[in-house]
Amino acid sequence: MKKTPKGERTEYDRLELIREMEKTLPYKRFVHTMGVAAVAAGLAMRHGEDVRRTEVAGILHDCAKKLSAEEMIRLCEKGGIPVTTVERKNSALLHAGAGCVLASQRFGITDEEILGAIRWHTTGKPGMTTMEKIVFIAGYIEPGRKDLPGMDEIREAAFRDLDEALVMILTNTLEYLESRGSEIDPMTRDTCDYYKKELGRKT
Ligand SMILES: [Fe+2]
Repeated sequence: MKKTPKGERTEYDRLELIREMEKTLPYKRFVHTMGVAAVAAGLAMRHGEDVRRTEVAGILHDCAKKLSAEEMIRLCEKGGIPVTTVERKNSALLHAGAGCVLASQRFGITDEEILGAIRWHTTGKPGMTTMEKIVFIAGYIEPGRKDLPGMDEIREAAFRDLDEALVMILTNTLEYLESRGSEIDPMTRDTCDYYKKELGRKT
């Protein structure tokens, strides 16, 4: 097993992890997962990120999706991940933090970047690593996703500039949540503002 200088494992048994996800996730969610893993690997190739580790993050990103809200809260507390009020009310948001703890405790992932990519795949966060950005974006653009507005442009942008794709996705997501009157995790707004500024700096 290869290790990074910090002693983290860098190679995981992808077949084993895929089999685990096949066993735990409902069929549709499993197919989505494999779509995310494939797109994440492709984006990693394009943007000079580690392909295997990025794929592992894609495979595991929804590993906690089937757990009950109570189980997810328990996992977050166990892993020292703070649960926000918005998350308590909207348990769909909890699976990212819970997934990060599950990936570490059940699947033995010690790679901080992989864990971060799982942790932030729903809301994103300011200052994401390339792997975190890739998994966030792959979750939105994988082939099985509905044709949301601007999808073709977002898919194209993802293979050109990750920050550009991030801003497009976050803007769409915020507009959609606002139009439905849904509660918005403040982290989603912070992330959108942060990457709009980042993009402004580049142009
Ligand atoms: Fe997810």
